[in-house]
Amino acid sequence: MTTTRGLRDSDEPITMLTAYDAPTAAVVDEAGIDIVLVGDSMGNAALGYDSTLPVTFEEVASRTAAVARATEDALVVADMPFLSFGVDEAESVRNAGRLLKEADADAVKIESGPHTVEMTRRMTDIGIPVMAHLGLTPQHVNRLGGYTRQGTDQAAAEEIIDLAGEHVEAGAFALVLEHVPANLAGAVTEALEIPTIGIGAGSDCDGQVLVINDVVGLGEWSPPFARQFGDVRGEMLDAVEAYKEAVTGGEFPAEEHSHVEEDLDDLY
Ligand code: KIV
Ligand code: NA
Repeated sequence: MTTTRGLRDSDEPITMLTAYDAPTAAVVDEAGIDIVLVGDSMGNAALGYDSTLPVTFEEVASRTAAVARATEDALVVADMPFLSFGVDEAESVRNAGRLLKEADADAVKIESGPHTVEMTRRMTDIGIPVMAHLGLTPQHVNRLGGYTRQGTDQAAAEEIIDLAGEHVEAGAFALVLEHVPANLAGAVTEALEIPTIGIGAGSDCDGQVLVINDVVGLGEWSPPFARQFGDVRGEMLDAVEAYKEAVTGGEFPAEEHSHVEEDLDDLY
């Protein structure tokens, strides 16, 4: 069983992948991945939106519950979607707690900033483990003007280092660093006593995370910092085309897929 504390003591790099449904979570868990993230990347990766902003609390809760039911060993982290936190502190903390209480998450992840330090402390205090997330925070796409690399100048890099430290101090158990220079991620990793988990942040983090669609080759597009380790989309297309051909060609269902009840006669 992966625990938030155990992560700290791990010698090997930590592995984290997203999953949004039970069968995918079962595969990720069976492969021995340490952390399953029910990311709000489900907006793009599973729900057909072109950003994460429309994803609702109910969507994350429902999919977290599905993932948790199929996961035995991995730590299940639920991503807090846009507007489910940050508007009001009490509501933020309550929503985070509901992801543990009602959806069986082990922890929550929050796109972090100066506004999330106190809420991270409050959540941690009442028993909700928080994974922080700095660098590119896709819920800010409208403010950032795109999904661009962050922390690329001295001031921005130092701001990320400072915010990371404040979230550790507030109790965060791990930190995702997204789309930042590798040397910045390395410096943050060096400075913090909690594990860093990078995506598009080089190899000097304590672990790595990717979106499952990108890893297995399910989507039509994946970011340049991802690597496709399979061709699931191609496999699915082959299978679906073969099914169509078998049905239209009269080969499916065959006798072995059918049942004839000998006792029935003269039905009409
Ligand atoms: O939603 C997500 O999948 C994420 C990871 C990319 C870190 O936030
Ligand atoms: Na996310």
